[in-house]
Amino acid sequence: MDSIDTMRGRFLDQIAQAADPDAIEAVRLTALGKKGEISLLMRNLGQMTPEERKTAGPLLNGLKSEIDAALKARRAALDDAALDARLQAEWLDVTLPGRPRSMGTIHPISQVMDELTAIFSDMGFAVAEGPQIESDWYNFDALNIAPEHPARQEHDTFFMHRAPGDNRPPHVLRTHTSPVQIRAMQAQGAPIRVIAPGRVYRMDMDQTHTPMFHQVEGLAIDRDVSMAQLKWTLEEFCRAFFEVEDVELRFRASHFPFTEPSAEVDIRCSWEGGQLKIGEGKDWLEILGSGMVHPHVLRAGGIDPDQWQGFAFGMGIDRIAMLKYGIPDLRAFFESDLRWLRHYGFAALDQPALAAGLSR
Ligand code: PHE
Repeated sequence: MDSIDTMRGRFLDQIAQAADPDAIEAVRLTALGKKGEISLLMRNLGQMTPEERKTAGPLLNGLKSEIDAALKARRAALDDAALDARLQAEWLDVTLPGRPRSMGTIHPISQVMDELTAIFSDMGFAVAEGPQIESDWYNFDALNIAPEHPARQEHDTFFMHRAPGDNRPPHVLRTHTSPVQIRAMQAQGAPIRVIAPGRVYRMDMDQTHTPMFHQVEGLAIDRDVSMAQLKWTLEEFCRAFFEVEDVELRFRASHFPFTEPSAEVDIRCSWEGGQLKIGEGKDWLEILGSGMVHPHVLRAGGIDPDQWQGFAFGMGIDRIAMLKYGIPDLRAFFESDLRWLRHYGFAALDQPALAAGLSR
């Protein structure tokens, strides 16, 4: 059957030339569609003699499946080519370096506040807060600081302005975090275990003093809290915070109106050639004041001193930050010099952990 061979050649040619799915579909319709050429020939089989049918039948069936297969193959080839083209066009070099983005850093003071909060909360201390603009009662009177006490004199304390004719005693920028002791006692009663980190203000300025600085107050009140527990708490804190096993603390008898007895605590360090180092050397840096809470203070906080007793401390956050991170000049903390901030700042993911890296 000559015409079948011609037909096969023609269709295979058309299929080879079909450049897109529509063209392929058009060839399919002319060949195998309801009225397609091959379909019409197959329909004629019925009118043939059995002899004719014997040869024509297999030939037509073979042609039909051959064209069918060629159509499928062409379709698959076109799909592959399209995918290749897309892969070429959408190619992305994942090995290229990223575009630089400028990122801020965590200020050493913020970092240290996070660190000490983590350590004290592990010891059962919750965080308490109070206002930075404080009444003179909370900042002084409630803490057993008499009106004639030197700390109340103008040269130390920033007083807020009062409108003319307003004769109430002026508010102050709190000179320490100790007023938060009173607020926390009033709000929570006893027993209580809190720390209160925050900003405080005094008129002072040199290498280790700035007019605004940071303290963390600590307060623990219970039936039988003792000076020994104060000492243990502070030593344990310093060991975890400085990540040094043999930090040396020196407790010096001292005086605060709001504690009795009172002690100031120094930490051993070396301070040579502008370098500040912890845990060695022959220098001492004062880092905190502390003592057993005075009965007058407990009473001002609404707590019965015959039932309860406790310790308190106020630690200089800036001081311990300087010590831990070897920062020699306190004033640089608050100058917002970008070079300093980039050098001493922390990555946002530098999560503080209790005793991170401390091997015991
Ligand atoms: N408030 C004191 C200061 O600023 C520190 C302190 C707090 C001392 C608590 C004793 C108890 O110097």
